[in-house]
Amino acid sequence: VSHGLDSFNTWKRFFSKTSHTTIAKVLFLSLTLIFFFCFCQPLSSVLLCFSDAKEIVLKAQILAGGRGKGVFDSGLKGGVHLTKDPVVVGELAKQMLGFNLTTKQTPKDGVKVNTVMVAEALDISRETYFAILMDRAYNGPVMVGSPQGGMDIEEVAASTPELIFKETIDIIEGLQEEQALRMASNLGFKGSLQRQAADQIKRLYDLFLKVDATQVEINPLGETPEGQVVCFDAKINFDDNAEFRQKAVFAMDDMTESDPTEMEAAKWDLKYIGLDGNIACFVNGAGLAMATCDIIDLHGGKPANFLDLGGGVKERQVYEAFKLLSADPKVEAILVNIFGGIVNCAIIANGITKACRELELKVPLVVRLEGNKNIHLNQLLKWQTHVLLIFKWWLESHLQPSRASSKG
Ligand SMILES: *[C@@H]1O[C@H](CO)[C@@H](O)[C@H](O)[C@H]1NC(C)=O
Repeated sequence: VSHGLDSFNTWKRFFSKTSHTTIAKVLFLSLTLIFFFCFCQPLSSVLLCFSDAKEIVLKAQILAGGRGKGVFDSGLKGGVHLTKDPVVVGELAKQMLGFNLTTKQTPKDGVKVNTVMVAEALDISRETYFAILMDRAYNGPVMVGSPQGGMDIEEVAASTPELIFKETIDIIEGLQEEQALRMASNLGFKGSLQRQAADQIKRLYDLFLKVDATQVEINPLGETPEGQVVCFDAKINFDDNAEFRQKAVFAMDDMTESDPTEMEAAKWDLKYIGLDGNIACFVNGAGLAMATCDIIDLHGGKPANFLDLGGGVKERQVYEAFKLLSADPKVEAILVNIFGGIVNCAIIANGITKACRELELKVPLVVRLEGNKNIHLNQLLKWQTHVLLIFKWWLESHLQPSRASSKG
């Protein structure tokens, strides 16, 4: 459980720094995939069997919250509708598709709706939590479940750890029948529901493997008064390294609503996440990036972004990264914290030098380059006399980022 918790915390921190739109996108994508795998049929044929549904829900798929209270420019009020009449489904969809929906979280002209989710509306009589994630400590997939679903799972883990169940899966042998049944029973599914839940768990594991997920989280995995086990909401994280063989999944990513800076960064293979502060962080490796953001916070500063250069970086990328950072009006100082390993410091130093010469950097720059080829740092001095260089000292003891200035 403790390892599971570590990764929960990391994900939560990561996502709390990610824009909400990204999460909404993940949610939509996730439900679509769950449909494919759990019902094993395309959405259009699922629609046909709704004719015997008691109630149908329609939900406009845009990457913004507050949809229930939104307004369409077709005049229709509400981005979420319930109806018992299948004929009304078509009428409602007509007033949603192709029109702009404005909610509290969209620009004032709204966002165009290109997709509407149509699903059977169900009541939930009991909520559980279920997830499959790649666990680094175990070196493989692990199932985590709790009969206490629908709420913050970290809260459950902290106050009632005995209600968190964990089951490691041998990736060669696959998920065993008895494991699925045991998890279903631990989640509190009784009688025929145990069988149903175990089947869903097996399909979810199948999904996990087939889409190269790093995490499939179902919250809640619920039970209806009619005795069905249903995935009511889901979040899936995909392994970026699998993009080459998951083209269909990655094609669903909707860039049109993404942050333009994040998109520009992605073009250069840089991981960039915009934050609210004023100190730009230019770091290699997500771990070092998080640690650097934490150090800035610790000293009362606020990071303006999270920019991870990654491993195989070239001078051109360093230059482009600087271009992005210096174009952001929020940025009042740039902190470079690089550990030269696979990346050697010379590449970074050359990139920074080029950027300093060509971009007329107007904000103070603080650089710490450590490791592979840090001797090349001297080059920087030749070009930039106002660059503050930090060699051996660890930032924690020598730097108050909130007060970083160009004096150095
Ligand atoms: C509808 O929203 C799009 C953004 O999705 C925007 O570009 C467009 O101007 C909006 N149209 C109207 C008529 O407001």
